[in-house]
Amino acid sequence: MKFFVDTADINDIRELAETGLLDGVTTNPSLIHKSGRKFMEVVEEICRVVPGPVSAEVVAADHAEMMREAEVLRKIADNVTIKVPLTIDGLRTCKALTSDGTMVNVTLCFTANQALLAAKAGATFISPFVGRHDDIGFDGMEIISDIRMIYDNYDFQTQILVASIRHPIHVLESAKIGADVITAPPSVIRQLFKHPLTDRGLEAFLADWGKTGQSIG
Ligand code: E4P
Repeated sequence: MKFFVDTADINDIRELAETGLLDGVTTNPSLIHKSGRKFMEVVEEICRVVPGPVSAEVVAADHAEMMREAEVLRKIADNVTIKVPLTIDGLRTCKALTSDGTMVNVTLCFTANQALLAAKAGATFISPFVGRHDDIGFDGMEIISDIRMIYDNYDFQTQILVASIRHPIHVLESAKIGADVITAPPSVIRQLFKHPLTDRGLEAFLADWGKTGQSIG
């Protein structure tokens, strides 16, 4: 399973990229606003730090304008993935861009039927938002299972990119279902490394090692 980080904060991205475990980055207009930086500039910098897919979202509502914005965004770097919303115009744009070899991430997906349409439009990634579903009292992960089944039934190559992740259990469930990618905030990715028994065990090992009076090398 690939790990993407969902942020436009370059410091977090750099730190996570250093682990060697980061496969890509997703941004959205709200995350760009939070970064306080210029959109084109920050995406260009992220693309230099992370060689994998970096999603940059169009903000137009109609197909022609989405195509124009996509043209500007894809010139930033070869690893830019154009993010389009799951609307009729968004899917039309997805079809046109992917037919031309451009990577496309279809965002704001909330049903398995929407994911089916995105796959038919040739999407590289489909982003179902699990956390926002949970927030309104539904089980977001159920949609991921449904999409997995549908894509496998028809051998669609669109990658399931689980988005709007709120906690490590979303990551665990995504892996159990066989999602292709998760995108999570830096804080959730950091949580994945942590367990109190790891910290306690390491502390005890190092204390005992100190008592041996030895060193390695
Ligand atoms: C995905 O690409 C989105 O940027 C993101 O996961 C949305 O998450 P949120 O619901 O926490 O805003």
